[in-house]
Amino acid sequence: MLYPALTVFGVSLFLLANAVADASFGSWTNSAPNLRMEWTPIPVNVHVDAISDSNTTLDTYDLLFLGMNQVGKENSTIAGSLQLARINAKYDGAIDRLLEEATNFTIGDKTAIMTYNTASGQKPQTLIIIHVGATAADARKVGTDLARTIQGGKKAKSCAILLPNQKSTREASAYVTEMTTALWVGLYKDKRFKSIKDDTDDAGNVNTIDLIVPDGNYDRETIRNAIANGRTHSAAVYLSKDIVNAPHNVLNSVSLVDTAQRLNKMYKRTLRCQILDQEECQRRGMGAYLGVARGSETPAQFIHITYRPPKSTYWSKSAPKLRRLGIIGKGLLFDTGGYNIKTSMMELMKFDCGGAAAVLGAVRAIAELEPRGVEVHFVIAACENMINERAMVPGDILTASNGKTIEVVNTDAEGRLTMADALVYVDQELDCDEILELSTLTGACMISLGTSIAGLWTNNDQLAVRLLESSARTGEKIWRMPMEADYRDALKSKVADLKNLGARYGGAIHAALFLQEFVEGDKPFAHVDMGALRGAPMGLSLYLE
Ligand code: BES
Ligand code: MG
Ligand code: ZN
Repeated sequence: MLYPALTVFGVSLFLLANAVADASFGSWTNSAPNLRMEWTPIPVNVHVDAISDSNTTLDTYDLLFLGMNQVGKENSTIAGSLQLARINAKYDGAIDRLLEEATNFTIGDKTAIMTYNTASGQKPQTLIIIHVGATAADARKVGTDLARTIQGGKKAKSCAILLPNQKSTREASAYVTEMTTALWVGLYKDKRFKSIKDDTDDAGNVNTIDLIVPDGNYDRETIRNAIANGRTHSAAVYLSKDIVNAPHNVLNSVSLVDTAQRLNKMYKRTLRCQILDQEECQRRGMGAYLGVARGSETPAQFIHITYRPPKSTYWSKSAPKLRRLGIIGKGLLFDTGGYNIKTSMMELMKFDCGGAAAVLGAVRAIAELEPRGVEVHFVIAACENMINERAMVPGDILTASNGKTIEVVNTDAEGRLTMADALVYVDQELDCDEILELSTLTGACMISLGTSIAGLWTNNDQLAVRLLESSARTGEKIWRMPMEADYRDALKSKVADLKNLGARYGGAIHAALFLQEFVEGDKPFAHVDMGALRGAPMGLSLYLE
């Protein structure tokens, strides 16, 4: 007999041989789905610090960014900076000359770039960049511009940014947080799948970025905290981008669980992570979600992470009830369309976990920022919309966990099926006071609003105001769309309670109305159709402040 001869101490040599062959694929194997996704770290070689104006010598920097809160010398930081005055005097009024030219800029104008020789013919050259405007949006421009400049500039080693004058410490902090976030996010590059890791474009040769704080304006500790917040937001965005960028053979429902559990381990103090496996979801009657997951190699993974503020008593039964918020993200690690197979843009569909990416990024930011007085439940019904002999087919009738039956008219309208059970769980089982749902739900929403604005649907005006406010603060654009009750008839099915497809026109509105069917009564509920944002979570963490 061949088989026993090949078995040594109970280990089949066939299996061993397979394992060895599999290992050659690096991050994934041929016989089993990949179990772990690599995370991109924030470049560590860039040291950002706050330095007081009187303690620095500005002309030693290779790159100098001057923030101005308004056009003209008067009232600008430049007038208040001892060091600039000193440089100005040393180099024959060079700053004055730059400012005269800068008077032509308007607030919010494009960054002006000027080259300034530190002394006639001397090297290195100092590049001075004047930026007009002191709002959060201006701060983002400075950060993005800075990232681009240092990535491209091979010579510059040190860089200083003179912060613009602000009315209050709060505004100064917001400026610095936005600016540093935009800087680090601007430096993000996904090199995880490159065999040759070229790190010269990370941050050029710049290893010091000093934020020069005008003397007697706001204190250095405040600015240092604002830098730390920028780092926190950036780490969250890095994780979101990594999730959206990872291809399906690297990131599947199982490796997404690994990512969630790693976060949970990092923030043990405030997080709890529970995974409902396929059997548990079945026991709970999540037929809509499981209908989608049927066709995939990896089993459905229902991820539930809870955040509670750091006070151990909050975990006990007798603890006071905190405002309870549910945040759900669409977690399709790939969307082929199923048997209604996609005929276009399938290659993009690794991004169909943009909602989940935003949610896990927000978990990271929130666990780091530790907002008080709120309990947050993060939920992702993770799976893939694939084809095999078990996959759902058009015409199937699925039963969701609230008992509603759904006729699957089109297997490509799968996101709303997974969301149906996630919404019921957050609404009924967790009893959340407010529900926010994020998903790359429809191509129709992108047709309506383009590639940089997400659609917002909500039954609650106050919730709309709060979300629109955090959107304005972060620059992640959303636009409120109508929950048009008259369109609801289009979701009626002849054979089931609902069908998963509305009318051809206004497809994104029909999708929103479908989701609303799985939240009881008039509980505040918001749906963000975010194909356009693909995982930017900063607005989410601000919304919780
Ligand atoms: N994940 C897609 C939505 C999507 C498509 C977002 C392209 C961004 C870009 C979703 O599951 C889907 O396939 N929606 C269909 C719905 C249709 C079958 C009613 C769509 O939008 O085409
Ligand atoms: Mg689809
Ligand atoms: Zn999808």
